[in-house]
Amino acid sequence: MKAAVCERYGPPEVVQIREVPTPVPADGEVLVEAFATTVNSGDARVRALRVPRGLRLPMRLRLGFTKPKNSILGFEMAGRVEAVGSAVTDFQPGDRVVVSRGFDFGCHAGYATVAEQGAIARIPENLSYQDAVALCFGGTTALSFFRLGKLAGGDTVLINGASGAVGTMAVQLAKHLGAEVTAVCSGANGEMVRGLGADHVIDYTTEDFTRNGQRYDVIMDNHGNAPYTRVKGSLRPGGRFLMIVGDLWQMLAASRQKATISSSESDSSISADSYRTLLSLAESGELKPVIDSVLPFRQIVDAHRRVDGGHKVGSVVLTFEQDD
Ligand SMILES: NC(=O)c1ccc[n+]([C@@H]2O[C@H](COP(=O)([O-])OP(=O)(O)OC[C@H]3O[C@@H](n4cnc5c(N)ncnc54)[C@H](OP(=O)(O)O)[C@@H]3O)[C@@H](O)[C@H]2O)c1
Repeated sequence: MKAAVCERYGPPEVVQIREVPTPVPADGEVLVEAFATTVNSGDARVRALRVPRGLRLPMRLRLGFTKPKNSILGFEMAGRVEAVGSAVTDFQPGDRVVVSRGFDFGCHAGYATVAEQGAIARIPENLSYQDAVALCFGGTTALSFFRLGKLAGGDTVLINGASGAVGTMAVQLAKHLGAEVTAVCSGANGEMVRGLGADHVIDYTTEDFTRNGQRYDVIMDNHGNAPYTRVKGSLRPGGRFLMIVGDLWQMLAASRQKATISSSESDSSISADSYRTLLSLAESGELKPVIDSVLPFRQIVDAHRRVDGGHKVGSVVLTFEQDD
């Protein structure tokens, strides 16, 4: 099969498409043929070893010291079940599914295996592979942080970095939960996030939301420039700060700040259950996939470049074609 192989940390060009052996499913595993995948901000961070201050060593230990442990990156793919192991009972060849291998990676390839009990869910008939895969990374992140932050109907929530993969899902999921949403993004994306349901939009190039006197029950920082120390004055009493991005010092401080929920608490975010929730909301039209661009798999280096730019709108999707 074709796979995008990344044998050292570095710029987008370190990713190269090669022919590698197709994986064979173990007894409890499902083998999926890829029809669509994403290059998300997590893939690009790992490829570049671009991690917040103080986290380089822990990340090297987790992901590979001098190069990625799994040279094939890719958190997630949508595709068709090609084969199942002898112990698999819930899936069969031909099923349309979305799967995640999370930090085990391996989804930037023509095929990937996943445990039947892992993050795998059937795609509803009315959703394309591209739409299904575009929901995953941002959707699971937003769902899990909102769950941990106990976001509820009637809450006011501010989402900083509202137009990316996490932000576009967060805006819609917060509205679905009944919250009043303030979205922070560049002016160019204001109308788009309003279309997703945001009640108020703040253009970060012209207004600093921490200085406008407004207070919120929940603040979510998807960009990394709104740490707790900067936003605490914008939180209502009892308010929660969802730190999607933060450096080592902010993470250490978070363990002492009752208000802060950090990514260290969200490890179980990618699950079949989360996928089923997202897919069912998308099936009924309540959640819209937001796709920045669709590129053929062979252009994966361009996809990494787009993600590195830091201004994608939703997800960058790759599709697999005969000549890929
Ligand atoms: N902790 C976790 O479990 C977890 C999970 C997933 C992702 N993450 C992290 O979360 C971050 C967001 O991920 P993503 O996939 O959504 O990234 P993304 O798709 O690249 O989106 C980033 C967004 O940030 C916005 N932005 C840029 N400059 C900004 C500024 N000065 N102020 C406010 N917003 C600004 C951009 O909006 P404009 O284009 O409008 O400027 C862009 O839409 C990444 O750092 C990622 O590594 C963490």
